Amino acid sequence: GEPLRIALLGCGVVGSEVARLITGSADDLRARIGRPLELVGIGVRRTGIERPGIDPALFTTDTAALVARDDVDIVIELIGGIEPARSLITSAIDHGASVITANKALLAEDGASLFAAAEQAGVDLYFEAAVAGAIPIIRPLRESLVGDEITQVMGIVNGTTNFILDKMHSQGAGYADVLAEAQALGYAEADPTADVEGFDAAAKAAILAGLAFHSRVSGADVHREGITEVTRSDIASARDMGCVVKLLAICELSGDGADATINARVHPAMIPDSHPLASVGGAYNAVFVQSRSAGQLMFYGPGAGGSPTASAVLGDLVTVARNRVRETSGPGESSYARRPVRSIGEV
Ligand code: HSE
Repeated sequence: GEPLRIALLGCGVVGSEVARLITGSADDLRARIGRPLELVGIGVRRTGIERPGIDPALFTTDTAALVARDDVDIVIELIGGIEPARSLITSAIDHGASVITANKALLAEDGASLFAAAEQAGVDLYFEAAVAGAIPIIRPLRESLVGDEITQVMGIVNGTTNFILDKMHSQGAGYADVLAEAQALGYAEADPTADVEGFDAAAKAAILAGLAFHSRVSGADVHREGITEVTRSDIASARDMGCVVKLLAICELSGDGADATINARVHPAMIPDSHPLASVGGAYNAVFVQSRSAGQLMFYGPGAGGSPTASAVLGDLVTVARNRVRETSGPGESSYARRPVRSIGEV
């Protein structure tokens, strides 16, 4: 059949991997979707930068024109940040494209209006890569567990800070050296302040809490404390007590029905060596979900980096493309309860 046309926005650590996979796995993707995919353009800030394995003819700096093309079926937004990502996604939806994004900051700030726009246009908005890299956690919350009552979502959702804390523990390394290493490995955000100050984890906590509790939670609702104040001596004393320091994101629902309150927070915590979260090393992430019927579930895997995050994007791509072929769209966000969110709450 006719190819489904894909526009990619951003060609950094994740974007370049996605571009290579769309081309390199074309036959497999076509078999899984039932129609071929055609990458029609890659929006970048500057052309002329060598990206191995990617056709330079695809690059354009006119990203606004790329998303406004009426023949584009799917837009993959991997630029990050609020603007121009928000305007580009909105334009893509207005032009009838389905959207895949890894943009946790934008979803945590303005997810509600993007979901409403997509729903109204009858297109998909998928974002598995926005939280915990390769780990499937969005679909489980949005689909698999949607019939259950989730009471808590808790875990390690930032790879950069986990990598840094892990190295501080295992090598007694200093914070600054390890941050540089995490950046070189492609784990850190463009502005690593987002990682080390906990903004990235807070955005992910907001997304998880919103899905888990069928509500709207923004990044600003999440109590946030990063790892910049964690010293070598904090790490040493934790070790003396048989503990490790981890940056945790915790989302809880307390109370029942209309009185239920959401509490979401991100902060460093001491965890006993025997706890399953203590052994989550490097840039790995882990998320525990507690629900009424299922009990406790644990999701674990690579939480950052080009290849793992590209895996989640490609999963969304196949799903969205299949929906497109069948002229349908995935789970909407039409029904949710507005619940009070306590921005600061200690247990
Ligand atoms: N900077 C993020 C992290 C990338 O370190 O987890 C994945 O969202």
